Amino acid sequence: MSFYEAVGGEETFHRLVHRFYEGVAEDPLLRPLYPEEDLTGAEERLRMFLIQYWGGPNTYSQRRGHPRLRMRHVPFVIGVAERDAWLRHMNDAVQSLELPEDLATRLWDYLVYAAHSLVNAPEGG
Ligand code: HEM
Repeated sequence: MSFYEAVGGEETFHRLVHRFYEGVAEDPLLRPLYPEEDLTGAEERLRMFLIQYWGGPNTYSQRRGHPRLRMRHVPFVIGVAERDAWLRHMNDAVQSLELPEDLATRLWDYLVYAAHSLVNAPEGG
């Protein structure tokens, strides 16, 4: 069974990413980074990406091509403060799923690692 299936499939990722973007929508540091007025498209892209990453359907790559996440984040200034704000909303979203602890830990460890890898602006810069 894939991790995608183990955590409950599409519905779980829908809840995760929806909850995350509810936080982003209210965040004065993060919200201005998102170019579109409506966050629905951003929500869909992150959801498709995470579903694919964890072994679900590869709709993300069919529509968007290779993820190249670092390149795709270059237009946005992501310092430590932005990373930590992103992770704060994601932590809230992961907790809200009430997954078994081992699954929650696996998901969370990946998100922390991925968020660290996308910082592209030096501190105080
Ligand atoms: C896109 C910010 C971390 C995955 C975006 C966008 C912004 C953004 C502003 C454009 C929204 C849009 O699609 O219209 C950030 C910030 C992060 C962060 C501030 C803090 C570190 C991550 C992480 C992941 C991720 C850790 C993956 C685990 C994505 C994906 C897209 C995206 C898949 C859409 C790419 C595309 O197909 O165009 N992000 N992001 N981001 N982000 Fe992030």
